[in-house]
Amino acid sequence: MKLSERLAVANPARVTLPGVADPGSAPTGPSTASVPTAAPLGEPVPEAAATPETAPRPTPAGSGRSLSARTSTPVAGPPVKPHGDALARLKDTAASALFERLGTRLNDPSLSEEKLHTIVRSELNHVVEEQDVPLTAEQQQRLISDVQDDVLGHGPLQRFLDDPAVTEIMVNGPDQVYVEQSGMLQRSDARFKSEEHLRRIIERIVFRVGRRIDESSPLVDARLADGSRVNAVVPPLAFNGSSLTIRKFSRDPFKVHDLIRFGTLTPDMAELLRACVEARLNIIVSGGTGTGKTTLLNVLSSFIPESERIVTIEDAVELQLQQDHVVRLESRPPNVEGKGEVGIRELVRNSLRMRPDRIVVGEVRGGETLDMLQAMNTGHDGSLSTVHANSPRDAIARLETLVLMAGMDLPLRAVREQIASAVDVVVQLTRLKDGTRRVTAVTEVQGMEGQTVTLQDAFLFDYAAGVDGAGRFRGTPVATGVRPRFTDRFAELGITLSPSVFGATETGARR
Ligand SMILES: Nc1ncnc2c1ncn2[C@@H]1O[C@H](COP(=O)(O)OP(=O)(O)OP(=O)(O)O)[C@@H](O)[C@H]1O
Ligand SMILES: [Mg+2]
Repeated sequence: MKLSERLAVANPARVTLPGVADPGSAPTGPSTASVPTAAPLGEPVPEAAATPETAPRPTPAGSGRSLSARTSTPVAGPPVKPHGDALARLKDTAASALFERLGTRLNDPSLSEEKLHTIVRSELNHVVEEQDVPLTAEQQQRLISDVQDDVLGHGPLQRFLDDPAVTEIMVNGPDQVYVEQSGMLQRSDARFKSEEHLRRIIERIVFRVGRRIDESSPLVDARLADGSRVNAVVPPLAFNGSSLTIRKFSRDPFKVHDLIRFGTLTPDMAELLRACVEARLNIIVSGGTGTGKTTLLNVLSSFIPESERIVTIEDAVELQLQQDHVVRLESRPPNVEGKGEVGIRELVRNSLRMRPDRIVVGEVRGGETLDMLQAMNTGHDGSLSTVHANSPRDAIARLETLVLMAGMDLPLRAVREQIASAVDVVVQLTRLKDGTRRVTAVTEVQGMEGQTVTLQDAFLFDYAAGVDGAGRFRGTPVATGVRPRFTDRFAELGITLSPSVFGATETGARR
């Protein structure tokens, strides 16, 4: 079907192509489609003309507001929208025609972006030229590049993807797009035209990284070419429409001075953590979802000396270590036949045969915890990982549960002893109500007392300082005044700490 015919079918009352060609002026030329009411654009259509064809149809999202405006003015009949809408429809139609022509080639991961752009541009030229649409060359080019952006870009998400201040994008069906910007989560005004539009964007994202998503495989967790992490769930698993979560990759990951600037760490705490890493203490970063665990793990890893061989193990590579001597391992999901899976646990075990000086596990979530603790206890000290928990005490309990998931049927006391002797420090991260992420505890794991793992806080966040007028927490993490026992190791290794780290009267271990 020709473009003009599609348009006529799509909205017989409003197709006035010369108006499309020049949105700023009144239509002058002949209409190329049948216009039963002959009403000029921008003027209301008489009620009598509101035939079933001209009655409001479910339209793409974005025009929802005018749809409700129309239905709420029954006497005047549906006012005809300005030319911009007709142009939008023309774009939609051209995009659909393009989808018909190119089909799955649009998502072919073997085509480079550049090649794909060339193919799309040339196809679009054909699509537009084939139609009897009076557009000037300039208008035609603009139409083509708009459609190209829509088809090859990420539709309403593109502006968030391009905006470095946006760190996370969350889509709950076509009408709800939330973004996190400067630590604050808010609903944006972006919308998809329909569930199909959202699905098309999701498919494009997922297919481009060589994965697929459909009813038989409705859940995908993938990493984009630029390192961003993507999770997509489509119906029937996603009940309210397709869901998409994008954790944008930061090309320039936060460094220790950034975290100090954000108030996540204090300079004293950063100095202590650097000493802990240099002294090869085993550190667990604990925190809820999105609290900045991976980011802090990355910063802690940056303190590992250049000379050491580091093996990182992750579900989807996110860590960006600056050292040269790094082996990065990434787990693999099963293929469509359910085969070929290589989990974190296997990778942790394998890493022990790679002569690592340090093992950095992105996050422990299952049986690999036992292997990691064993590694920490048997010569691979200085290892780092993260765990999902809301306090240092919770982190220990969580590690216990995760060890039990290894299915070794170990007595609880043995598990706790394993944890107490493997883990030296727990660094707790919390996302406070004001959107800031703070280290709220640096806690030493001292050992066992009876059946209990004993913990001693070295730093705690000062909630008592209250909030300022803008609702921001005034407090910072402050030293409890208790010098952790592990600082004895610093002295042996010649690592010095400023006297201020544990408060004015404490000098830490110094040479
Ligand atoms: N200290 C910080 N201050 C402000 N923003 C931060 C901080 N740390 C991390 N972020 C931002 O918060 C988001 C989540 O960070 P990160 O991936 O490190 O969290 P996470 O706890 O590992 O999340 P998940 O639970 O999904 O693994 C990222 O967009 C990151 O840029
Ligand atoms: Mg993480």
